[in-house]
Amino acid sequence: MFGMSLSANITDTSTTTGGGSGVDGVKTDHVDRRLHHRNGYFNYKHHHTEPDQRKLVENILRPLDLSDDDYHTVMQSMLDQMERGLGAATNDTAPIKMYPTYVRAVPDGTESGEFLALDLGGTNFRVLLVTLKGQEVKMDSKIFLIPQHIMLGSGKHLFDHIAECIYRFVKEHNLMERKLPLGFTFSFPCRQKGLARAMLTTWTKGFKCEGVEGHDIVALLHEAITRRGDLNVECLAVINDTVGALMSCAHTDRKCAVGIILGTGSNACYIEKLEKVEMAEGNEPGPPEMLINTEWGAFGDDGSLDFITTDFDRQVDKHSINAGKQRYEKFISGMYMGEIVRLALEKLRKNGLLFGGEGSYHMATRGRFYTKYVSEVESDDTDSFPMTKQIFQELEIETVTDQDCRLVRHVCALVSRRAAFLSSAGVACILNKMKRPEVTVAVDGSLYRFHPHFHDLMMEKTRVLAPGIRYKFMLSEDGSGKGAALVAAVANRILAEQKAKGNPETSSAV
Ligand code: GLC
Repeated sequence: MFGMSLSANITDTSTTTGGGSGVDGVKTDHVDRRLHHRNGYFNYKHHHTEPDQRKLVENILRPLDLSDDDYHTVMQSMLDQMERGLGAATNDTAPIKMYPTYVRAVPDGTESGEFLALDLGGTNFRVLLVTLKGQEVKMDSKIFLIPQHIMLGSGKHLFDHIAECIYRFVKEHNLMERKLPLGFTFSFPCRQKGLARAMLTTWTKGFKCEGVEGHDIVALLHEAITRRGDLNVECLAVINDTVGALMSCAHTDRKCAVGIILGTGSNACYIEKLEKVEMAEGNEPGPPEMLINTEWGAFGDDGSLDFITTDFDRQVDKHSINAGKQRYEKFISGMYMGEIVRLALEKLRKNGLLFGGEGSYHMATRGRFYTKYVSEVESDDTDSFPMTKQIFQELEIETVTDQDCRLVRHVCALVSRRAAFLSSAGVACILNKMKRPEVTVAVDGSLYRFHPHFHDLMMEKTRVLAPGIRYKFMLSEDGSGKGAALVAAVANRILAEQKAKGNPETSSAV
């Protein structure tokens, strides 16, 4: 994948050098933003005048504040679980599954043609038409909603809906007469048996469609397409969104070897030595490396993160659709962060420490304090807090003082800081494990994109946790579409080559 060279649609590379180059490598605006953040963070304490109240607040919030020792313990335990996930004898009982992706080879930059891509697993479902033409990539996409009743309905219904969306897209783009190869970014944990065979192990992120877990999603998609009988598409590859992010960044940066998502959910992939990938089947020729989809979101499902779990986290988990699962993801990602903040605010309020004890129906409602509010509060002007006040007006809290706003901001900052530092612990664990002197980490996801300080916080903590390694975080632009098309393109090329040799087997190794 490092040989590919694409150019279009990269609008923001947002790179900042770190690691070995330390703070010196951080662009000035990042330094400014970080100082601003620190001011916002400490403001609350400086303004609070009642020592007793401050003590009460601190007691309630202290469990959200972790030490470097805690982060080191987290890393050690993650490393342990990752090694167990890689090993054939230990994979069964390992919470971090370290799935082989069968993505190995390098798109050579000559891939061309038109490809369909599907992107399922974030906030939206998208169908894309990706045109690869030498170095250029053009993309045309359409977002389709997946209504809640489909997310929680039958698998057949879900895949019929997906096939219907493909049909509408293909029709609109006058592609009905063409047979288009398709790449599917399916961002859920899958045990892959090849590039185009992916068994869903368990739904995450609020999806729960019956009859899909344990089944090959490519087969389910093809069945839905066959049921319609009016579509001429073939799915050649399934990839995770982390793989898409890595693929998309790798063309501008050959040092890109890790891809992470910080969005609705959280996950990471990285390049592993083939000899360590004991769970991969088959023995295709190719480079001695394979991308591993770690599914690090499940880290802690064996209780190993209980030592940092607060009451707020326990409540979030208990009321989620997948209680006991994806414990690490629930500390970090956009689907849960707002709710952690809401629970902390409610606890302060009930103790008379916020909003003069006044609550509201909205603030008492699970899931109503969105993670985007956390970003907005932390981006707010700290003199008059216009956005914060607007948010609580929407949430029907009548009296919100400046001191309330400072405390809300403090809570948001604590929860985001813990999330960013825990993500850094994950990244640092992978960087230390890979032992490459210099690595670019591709990052995508709404949390990373829209939170004002996540990037800076991650830079800061990764430097502490992975000393001596030069790293940078690079924003990945539309990896889910481009990555899927690229992998499908290479699969298509290999398939054509095999057919030419008289062996029409689909290759499992890109
Ligand atoms: C969840 C999914 C994982 C995905 C991540 C980010 O953790 O299980 O496959 O990569 O969310 O979207």
